[in-house]
Amino acid sequence: MTEEAKKQTESGESSLPIQKLAINFLIRFYIVFKVLKLYAENNELIEEQTGILMEELNRLKEIEPEIKFRIKQESIFFNQQRLKFSLANYHIFKFLLEEFRKREIGEIDLSPDITRQELTRALAILCQKRTEPEPFEAIQAELKEHQITGFSLEKMQASEWRLSPEKSSARLYFLSILHLREISERGKENEKIRLNTTRRLIQSIFNHLIDNESFLLGLTNIKNHDEYTLNHSVNVSLLAIALGKRLGLSRVELVDLGLAAFFHDLGKIETPLEILNKPGQLTEEERKIMELHPHQGAEKLVQLKEFKRLPISAIHVAMEHHIKEDLSGYPHFKIKQDVNLYSRIVKVCDFFDAITTKRVYRKKVFTRAEALSLMLEQIGTEFNPVILKAFVQMMGAFPIGSVVLLNTGEVGLVTAVNQELKFLLRPKVKIIADGAGNKVDGEIIDLTEIDPENKKYKRTIVKEINPDDYGLNVADYFLAQAET
Ligand SMILES: [Fe+2]
Ligand SMILES: [Fe+2]
Repeated sequence: MTEEAKKQTESGESSLPIQKLAINFLIRFYIVFKVLKLYAENNELIEEQTGILMEELNRLKEIEPEIKFRIKQESIFFNQQRLKFSLANYHIFKFLLEEFRKREIGEIDLSPDITRQELTRALAILCQKRTEPEPFEAIQAELKEHQITGFSLEKMQASEWRLSPEKSSARLYFLSILHLREISERGKENEKIRLNTTRRLIQSIFNHLIDNESFLLGLTNIKNHDEYTLNHSVNVSLLAIALGKRLGLSRVELVDLGLAAFFHDLGKIETPLEILNKPGQLTEEERKIMELHPHQGAEKLVQLKEFKRLPISAIHVAMEHHIKEDLSGYPHFKIKQDVNLYSRIVKVCDFFDAITTKRVYRKKVFTRAEALSLMLEQIGTEFNPVILKAFVQMMGAFPIGSVVLLNTGEVGLVTAVNQELKFLLRPKVKIIADGAGNKVDGEIIDLTEIDPENKKYKRTIVKEINPDDYGLNVADYFLAQAET
């Protein structure tokens, strides 16, 4: 550490300039990393950007001659300091973390006398997409081949390995189902439940949603018919958090909303299975029993030993999620009272997940886009207009998980929605069948892509198709991503 740095440490002000300088350097590192993927090393833009990168490096060197960046679990360290990224540059931090992980890089050391040319070359090697089974070794070999000595790497320790984000999201999804099953079983016997675990699970879902909303919304395509209520509750919880986020709720509120949604159908543990799974229409008597579940749910929640730790909105949601915007629906209240905001949010998500799931008693399963249009017909009467509009916008004209026929004859699966309004009909799709109708494991394509020759869109959606008619299980595609 230089004299200047020591002085700063003693005065307690060291962290700020070093933090800032190290983060500035990484931001520039990120930019060069990205542009090197697109342009050759002698390109003007690269020259300009590597120039700025060197300037940042020199500033950093003045304070700390030793320059080491280390990846440790979910953090990047500069020498001994953990770097704290702001929300504005959080995506850069996430990007670098992911790229280093993919390449098994645990540490980057820069020697003080590294030249610009050397640094550019090293970054050009680093930024390449790696398909080798041992990416770290492949990068090392290339650095050696180019006799780069000012830039050295250390391999990530096995203990720093972590599941891919998709894998851990999928794991979280199934963990939530298992947890709810345990709660339902304990709830039947009025035993103690682990509400802290529930809260932690919902908090993790929230974190995953911030990082990878599309994939998490993709997981709501998982429909388990044997454990419908459990599966459905997790889907509704996920959708509600995503929707609440769009409506501007805070993190704390979103976790409460997620919890409330998670428990919305808890009352169904009291509903006899013959009624829950009855293939035909319910008799008047049976319908009345079914319609008791909001009440029973609220009662169950109030009786929990951990009741005090539950947000009060959970009781509202259990009680009110079948009440319509015009206050009809069930349970009937003698005095008309206003419905809780969270109940209105859950109502939209609940309805959507229910009608897009095949059930023995439901003749028609709606595709995701059909479900939205049906719901829009009932805006203002069944659903709150502001909430439903936000939901429809979030899901897009072709929601994640929709299967679409393209003008090329190919069949695509929507994997991400394009949020720009003018591209509402141009989401990202994974090609799952070629023009001849053969199933393929195709690429993910952005439908906003334009053919440079005729300046027209390369592909356009012709119509949505029902995956059931083609024997496709949409959830499998999302789970396959988690397996790679
Ligand atoms: Fe319900
Ligand atoms: Fe429900």
